[in-house]
Amino acid sequence: MARRRQLYEGKAKILFEGPEPGTLVQYFKDDATAGNGAKSGVITGKGVLNNRISEHLMLLLQDIGIPTHFIRRINMREQLVKEVEIIPLEVVVRNIAAGSIAKRFGIEEGTRLPRTIVEFYYKNDALNDPLVSEDHIIAFEWACPHDLEDMTSMAMRVNDFLCGLFSGIGIQLVDFKLEFGRSWEGDDMRIVLADEISPDNCRLWDNQTNEKLDKDRFRRDLGNVREAYQEVARRLGILPEA
Ligand code: C5P
Repeated sequence: MARRRQLYEGKAKILFEGPEPGTLVQYFKDDATAGNGAKSGVITGKGVLNNRISEHLMLLLQDIGIPTHFIRRINMREQLVKEVEIIPLEVVVRNIAAGSIAKRFGIEEGTRLPRTIVEFYYKNDALNDPLVSEDHIIAFEWACPHDLEDMTSMAMRVNDFLCGLFSGIGIQLVDFKLEFGRSWEGDDMRIVLADEISPDNCRLWDNQTNEKLDKDRFRRDLGNVREAYQEVARRLGILPEA
């Protein structure tokens, strides 16, 4: 197969030019980083698992009417996606306190939050992805109020759906991060879910044991990272090739 032109290399994925205009190929690496690159490593087979898990979740979300960039999986490590203009925000949805919110407000990890919380972080490695308010987003024109409303309502719908899905397979959805992009068709623009949804960007805890089945196993040196991702794939009914 002809080599594809590489457009961007991130911490866990590479984007290549797609076969048709307006498409990209998203390649899932085995590389893992934490703390904005402070810690890095390789989790053999992670890319294959995340490609399958993200495909599965994006397709289910499309079925309930959430527009996504996902078109189809090409092979074990690649998927075809729509080219979108990524909005420079990380949208984090939290059901249970863990990670940065637990630290910031001194809440014990595992405490159920009084209501679901949606947070926005400005995507900027040099600034360490700072937490931002809706006013910052609008003032600095990272998104307009309408886009912000779309992202918030989609994030809440994704949360409702994924909470139910994971609860059915004995997993608590503690929190997760989404990214959105602008997709243009002629003059029409719509906001679509982009990036990936996988144990790299969700916190997933076993219902019975509270065992972590996500990237915190890597971040906190808990071991058995690949096994945890495999367990999520197995419970979702996905049989990965690797
Ligand atoms: O670190 P923090 O508690 O803010 O993370 C909240 C959620 O967002 C976690 O599920 C984490 O995996 C995800 N996240 C991410 N990429 C980042 C920051 C957070 O996927 N850069």
